[in-house]
Amino acid sequence: MKIDIVKATDFASKSAYLVGEEIKRLQKILDRNVNMVLATGHTMIEFLDELSKIKDIDWKRINFFHLDEYKGLTCSHVSSYGYFLTENLFSKVDTPKENIHFVCDFDKDEYMKIVREKGGIDIAMLGIGMDGHLGFNEPPNYSNFDGRMQEVKLRPETIENNIDMYPEILDNPYAITMGMADIMESKKLFFLANKVKKAEIVKQALKGPITEDIPASILQKHPNVEVILDEEAGSML
Ligand code: GLP
Repeated sequence: MKIDIVKATDFASKSAYLVGEEIKRLQKILDRNVNMVLATGHTMIEFLDELSKIKDIDWKRINFFHLDEYKGLTCSHVSSYGYFLTENLFSKVDTPKENIHFVCDFDKDEYMKIVREKGGIDIAMLGIGMDGHLGFNEPPNYSNFDGRMQEVKLRPETIENNIDMYPEILDNPYAITMGMADIMESKKLFFLANKVKKAEIVKQALKGPITEDIPASILQKHPNVEVILDEEAGSML
């Protein structure tokens, strides 16, 4: 596992640079589109903006998917992750609409089938929740390492972390998320975390025992994961 710890001011641009290099590398060698899964949340906002500015990415040759979505929200709902990604990336690049696959447009059992038909996930972006979740695979009920795309009920601390972006989350604490096994099948993972509040959980995920109680700890088993942390999130490693 490669771990980069960078200054907070460089976190978004360094992450975008590294991800951009990987996209460009794959675009040289693949005879199909690059399949990329995006994460959402505060961690990703500046990163996505920086990524949108990278030169020489052929945005028309990427198929986009996303990790998770609140249950029942349409893609145009301002709090949906589909809307978040449109605002923070797709409105800034020239990826054709047909290459963008939002969870909200599909049945949850169809979604991963489409990913697989297109050749599987080449690059997945990941953040981490305060309880160590990836996507919305929260312990203890939904973090089975064999888990596939599933509907979940969100825990109070996750509701609290996301309520500023989705004020009605208290009335609808449900989501659809790719499962841990789906995520681990990705060929390359980029794991991003910033801010001091993530330091403890990042330490447990990257240096602690591999356990479903800390879902992100499974990353220690992935052969191709690149971790980018700001100095605060990396301060306990
Ligand atoms: C939500 C998302 C995750 C994300 C996490 C961290 O739970 N489903 O994919 O990693 O939030 O979010 P933030 O970046 O806002 O801390």
